Amino acid sequence: MADSKKFYLPTEVRFGRGSVECLGTLVNPKQKVFLVTDPGVEKAGLTGRVQVILEEAGAAVTVFNQVEPNPSAVSVEQTLNALKETGAAMVVAVGGGSALDLSKVVSALATNPGKLEEYQWNGRKFEHEPLPFMAIPTTAGTGSEVTRVAVIVDRNTKKGVGSDRLFPRVAMVDPEMTAGLPRGLTAATGMDALSHAVEAYVSLGANLFTDSWALTAAKLIGRSLLRACVAGDDLDAREEMALASTLAGVAMDQAGLGIVHSMAGPICSYYHLPHGLACAILLPYGVSYNLTASPERMAMLASALGCETKGLTALEAGRDAVAAVYRLVRETGLSLDLSTFGIKESDADLVAEETTKMFLIKDNPRRPSVAECRAVFLAALHGEEPQYCTF
Ligand SMILES: [Fe+2]
Repeated sequence: MADSKKFYLPTEVRFGRGSVECLGTLVNPKQKVFLVTDPGVEKAGLTGRVQVILEEAGAAVTVFNQVEPNPSAVSVEQTLNALKETGAAMVVAVGGGSALDLSKVVSALATNPGKLEEYQWNGRKFEHEPLPFMAIPTTAGTGSEVTRVAVIVDRNTKKGVGSDRLFPRVAMVDPEMTAGLPRGLTAATGMDALSHAVEAYVSLGANLFTDSWALTAAKLIGRSLLRACVAGDDLDAREEMALASTLAGVAMDQAGLGIVHSMAGPICSYYHLPHGLACAILLPYGVSYNLTASPERMAMLASALGCETKGLTALEAGRDAVAAVYRLVRETGLSLDLSTFGIKESDADLVAEETTKMFLIKDNPRRPSVAECRAVFLAALHGEEPQYCTF
């Protein structure tokens, strides 16, 4: 069989400062638009800016500002009902991953029969084209603006709904929309983006396309995340982080993820940690666990993160990648261990068991046993300096 590498991204990406303004060219006069957002983003004035752009283009806008963190199936139903009541022909989301994921799903359910659970749990396919969906991220992290997946909480689990039809029609990635993000959120979402880049780069699903995006994203994050954390109005840093987030999003969508996201799933479902924070805490240990499976790739990551690797063996340079990730988490000011959030050693068996059952684990370069997942979890629980190759 031919060695064919696939790359599929139907989303049109508009990138750069002020790129959100192009939204005005994408609507027709008198078109009804359903604008999805959350109260924090609305309070920051970002929703208002988008609403003005749409209304100046002649659109009739209904603002739906009730997006909750980690949207649930119930929330999907309520949002879908609100969308149908307006008769809107287009959905626009302004916000983080929650607003974008919720909007992907309601755009598709608006034109497809049946309930979410049929698509989320029973493998039903979206047969009809969704309402046009425009994504405007206000964080540099989730990459949801360029992926075919939406994560919705149901049956006490964060479970993805995946379909080529869920790709947004257009993504407007405008660094100005992230300029007011507080330090903690900048750090957590930025580490989520780094997790996407690192996991995609060492994934079994990686290819030449995704390698390029993942490595570039890691390099941009290595040199700009701290700057964006320390000086939120540094638009050069914000621009590099916005680009990195989108590149890493494309890489993860096409290549897959691994042990960090597989373990973040149950941790966030059971203990309600924000996704980016869980990924930030787990990432150094995930990199350490995967080091022996991909030392050459970890060495490339070390170099991308600014480490001097000349004269080192791949394994030595890979160890520097582990140390660089651990150091970066610490320097952003994020907590370094899971125990801070009330998670206990007695939770290890449950989390380890669940991690091995996650769909995403299939692309991790090592297939971890329950005992190995337990060891990774316990290291992250205590925030200890990663010990190499002992898992
Ligand atoms: Fe993520």
